[in-house]
Amino acid sequence: TREAKLDLITKHIKPFPDFPSKGILFRDICPILKDPGALTAVIDLFEEHVRQTHPQVELIVGLDARGFLFGPLLAQRLGVGFVLVRKKGKLPGPTVSVAYKLEYGEAEVEVQEDAVAPGEKVLLIDDLLATGGTLCAACELMKKQNAEVMGCMVIIELKELNGVEKLKPNTLFSLVQY
Ligand code: PRP
Ligand code: ADE
Repeated sequence: TREAKLDLITKHIKPFPDFPSKGILFRDICPILKDPGALTAVIDLFEEHVRQTHPQVELIVGLDARGFLFGPLLAQRLGVGFVLVRKKGKLPGPTVSVAYKLEYGEAEVEVQEDAVAPGEKVLLIDDLLATGGTLCAACELMKKQNAEVMGCMVIIELKELNGVEKLKPNTLFSLVQY
């Protein structure tokens, strides 16, 4: 059942206090990858959501780096392609990029110019939503390419940082909330 799958997923998320810096409670998804049942549960629930809510999706877009661990598995299940949104400077050929703010300084996300066709219906995936800065920039990047953003998906949503507000009008689907 859905409840059993969520329970299994939750049991495979490990909290690490004060990582990578003091005051941060890091939610580690590595145990999910180590357990085939938990990983299957994640992809099952994402697949169910997409088939029920976004059956017209044409492309899964994954975020550097942990979105790359789940995105291709989901794309294969759905029978659609997968595209990488990378941190700046990693992709060959013509690229488009969007800069965004971090707690300290700036970062940039980038996609290959020909990776997404105009009007293509895309869903974005990452492991976790914190402030929403990363997914928000990736959504902007997709819009710059004239893609149709259907929504964003994460395993973990950190509610107190209110990333959902930052993402608006883009929508978020999350499996586990803290
Ligand atoms: C983490 C996480 C998300 C992002 C969420 O990645 O995997 O991509 O932070 O934070 P935000 O909602 O505040 O933008 P991180 O920046 O640690 O980099 P990594 O993917 O290289 O591990
Ligand atoms: N990325 C941003 N905040 C995070 C957290 N608390 N745990 C894991 N990844 C993160």
